[in-house]
Amino acid sequence: MPAFPEYRPRRLRRTPALRSLVRETMLAPSQFVLPLFVRSGSGIRQPVRSMPGVSQTSVDELLVDAREAAQLGVSGVLLFGIPDTKDAQGSGAWDDNGPVQQAVRALKDELPELVVITDVCMCEYTDHGHCGILRNGDVDNDATLELLVKESLSHARAGADVVAPSDMMDGRVGSIRNALDDAGFQHTAILAYAAKFASAFYGPFREAAQSTPQSGDRRGYQMDAGNVNEALREVRQDIEEGADMIMVKPAGPFLDIVARVKADTGYPLAAYQVSGEFAMIHAAAERGWIDLERSMMESLVGIRRAGADIIITYFAREAARVLRA
Ligand code: PBG
Repeated sequence: MPAFPEYRPRRLRRTPALRSLVRETMLAPSQFVLPLFVRSGSGIRQPVRSMPGVSQTSVDELLVDAREAAQLGVSGVLLFGIPDTKDAQGSGAWDDNGPVQQAVRALKDELPELVVITDVCMCEYTDHGHCGILRNGDVDNDATLELLVKESLSHARAGADVVAPSDMMDGRVGSIRNALDDAGFQHTAILAYAAKFASAFYGPFREAAQSTPQSGDRRGYQMDAGNVNEALREVRQDIEEGADMIMVKPAGPFLDIVARVKADTGYPLAAYQVSGEFAMIHAAAERGWIDLERSMMESLVGIRRAGADIIITYFAREAARVLRA
């Protein structure tokens, strides 16, 4: 390529129109998925303190949020449930009348074109807050698989388009795929939280989902933040077991993993901009230290640029509004 002064990159930055002609990465509302927290009851909208604009809602209020997202062009929602009661097995997870199952039915009824994804995990349903059954203080991998299968089947029966296991047990994708196929749910897709790191950035979510572990932490099953090769093995394994789409989570601090996974697999890839990433931008903006809208859009374009096809973000509606303006 020519050197300066023949090559002057600033020539193409002179006007908004020139800049948009040479922009390499586009954001669109259709790439977004909005996470929603659902509980039982009606008329309930309980704000999450550390996540401005995010609430736990009953199904009727969830429909209001989902309708707004759909009208803005957001493609999907990701549902998390807050059960009325918790127990050691997390039996609320496969209650066909649980909040998630009711929300799925209501969404497929009212907004059939919106993609409904359900988070499959035990941590919201167990009284100890771990992502599976405990045996001698450790999460029992193989015993947990059966419960994740029951939960996935219950979500599929309710009509979920996609189930998204986030527990990080080994072998769960294969178990869930087999069970779905055996039960006639060949078209229910699996979005595997393939590379999910044990992250400090899940803090606000655990308040939102009331799923903080009562003892210990999740490092025995979620990944260590330093590991790239292991992330690629996790991804490969989930694809071999039948994952239709894969996820890297969190997004911002792990963009190198997003880029590697996309380049290595070419699979449909989701990146989850998690609660702490969202809260951080809000907190700094509230203090007047950064501009909320510009930081939001820059964080999202960065995730796309790294290679994500799908962005799961609490900013879905606000960002869609900016893109449509
Ligand atoms: C459930 C789950 C978590 C998140 C998504 N699914 C929490 C965790 O693993 O502790 C985090 C999402 C967020 O922080 O926005 N296992």
